[in-house]
Amino acid sequence: LVLILDFGSQYTHLITRRIRSLSVFSLCISGTFPLSSITSLNPKVVILSGGPHSVHADDSPSFADGFVEWAQSNGVFVLGICYGLHLLVQRLGGEVRVGEKQEYGRMEIEVEKSCGIFGGKKVGDRQVVWMSHGDEAATLPNGFEVVARSQQGAVAAVEDKDRRFYGLQYHPEVTHSPEGMETLRSFLFEVCGVNAGWKMEDVMAEEIKVINNRVGSDDHVICALSGGVDSTVAATLVHRAIGDWLHCIFVDNGERVMETFERDLHLPVTCVDATEQFLSKLKGVVDPELKRKIIGKEFICVFDAFAKELENNLGKKPAFLVQGTLYPDVIESCPPPGTGRSHSHTIKSHHNVGGLPKDMKLKLIEPLKLLFKDEVRQLGRILTVPYSFLKRHPFPGPGLAVRVLGDVTEDNALDTLRQVDEIFIQSIKDAGIYDSIWQAFAVFLPVKSVGVQGDQRTHSHVVALRAVTSQDGMTADWYHFEREFLDDVVQKICNNVRGVNRVALDITSKPPSTIEWE
Ligand code: XMP
Repeated sequence: LVLILDFGSQYTHLITRRIRSLSVFSLCISGTFPLSSITSLNPKVVILSGGPHSVHADDSPSFADGFVEWAQSNGVFVLGICYGLHLLVQRLGGEVRVGEKQEYGRMEIEVEKSCGIFGGKKVGDRQVVWMSHGDEAATLPNGFEVVARSQQGAVAAVEDKDRRFYGLQYHPEVTHSPEGMETLRSFLFEVCGVNAGWKMEDVMAEEIKVINNRVGSDDHVICALSGGVDSTVAATLVHRAIGDWLHCIFVDNGERVMETFERDLHLPVTCVDATEQFLSKLKGVVDPELKRKIIGKEFICVFDAFAKELENNLGKKPAFLVQGTLYPDVIESCPPPGTGRSHSHTIKSHHNVGGLPKDMKLKLIEPLKLLFKDEVRQLGRILTVPYSFLKRHPFPGPGLAVRVLGDVTEDNALDTLRQVDEIFIQSIKDAGIYDSIWQAFAVFLPVKSVGVQGDQRTHSHVVALRAVTSQDGMTADWYHFEREFLDDVVQKICNNVRGVNRVALDITSKPPSTIEWE
């Protein structure tokens, strides 16, 4: 195991992902966790991440007392990256000070001493790296040696070979450090002697074993399928483990995914069409938050009724609940102090059925909680979840209601929106760009504008098209379509969807906008 101690860098997840991509299992925990959290995981390598702080600030986060002594006496390799390097230097008796020249962006560094971390690189070899720091290591602790320096003369890489301490002032994990991946590879395999062998097949087998051990032979398990990739893969995995002791519910939100559940995945699913129930509660509601709350509450009612019915039929309360929680949600629920990073995103709470009634007393099964989205897709492939399904764009838990601005029940809005969305998404698929887009969808606006169609004056609705690229949905850029593509889509929408005479394109990034409009 390679353990990453998170000190708040925006790149910390990336380190974890990069290492996993080298087939080495890595986990990330808060850098300020007690020593026992680290030792209980028994890592062979610990990486101290970067972070936005200066080690001189009063509230700067640091690793637990006794960490370096523990690492040394257990032969654990430690690599400090940027802030992590400063921490290591400071805690081992060196000096960190504000650099004379701050270094941000692409820089060149030069190797001063041959070192395993740079593989076969020779003294005098140069490489471009991504720097982002104000502080720098001014005096190194005893035993440390400079391995590389920046153009400006700042320490860029250090080692204390005997004690197995290493440090990089730059970020090898970002693509702006073109040889960074090679450096991580050399560090892990050549310096630390780590074995590559972490495979998704093993993860699946291990998870199935864990589920089988936890779930008793007559325990029933329930799962709410959202129609998204995460809950589907989670349910499929649990089904592999316990078969039809799993009971799924899918609250139909207008997406055509039941076929996949039943025909392709053989999941035992009860489909509940609660459209009328939801719409009657949403009538006249225009406030986005209120809409979400109402949908969340209704969802719980539907879910509760499902669980009660199961209990009546089976003569036994279901004991477990499957949730498709992913690793980023877990990491984000315990951010390091002082990072300003928000606690577990509330946007996910509905999706993960966070507000279930307390008296259900269900124990949680979260088989994906150590995986990133792309790894879940990989696992899904092994579980034979159809590729077309795994590549589907994310869809918000509350459904289309948050894509109809204003009153969902007015002006045939949901139907109109579905038609526009279908044209938009189909055109994107036809153009072969679906997989390059994180998410694309249409939004129904509660606005009418004047148009002219077939020599007639019209007064019809405006719809907006939104398509973004993103790594994880936390930030996003708008997708730049070809002009011809847009011409074609707009023409198709206005010609085929009654009640729409104008199409707007949303070209706002996140931030300042969110991906969804509500
Ligand atoms: P925003 O709109 O906050 O969305 O930029 C970020 C990502 O989350 C999705 N989203 C949701 N997903 N339940 C979900 O499961 C929700 O309530 C919800 N709201 C937004 C959104 O589609 C995007 O992928």
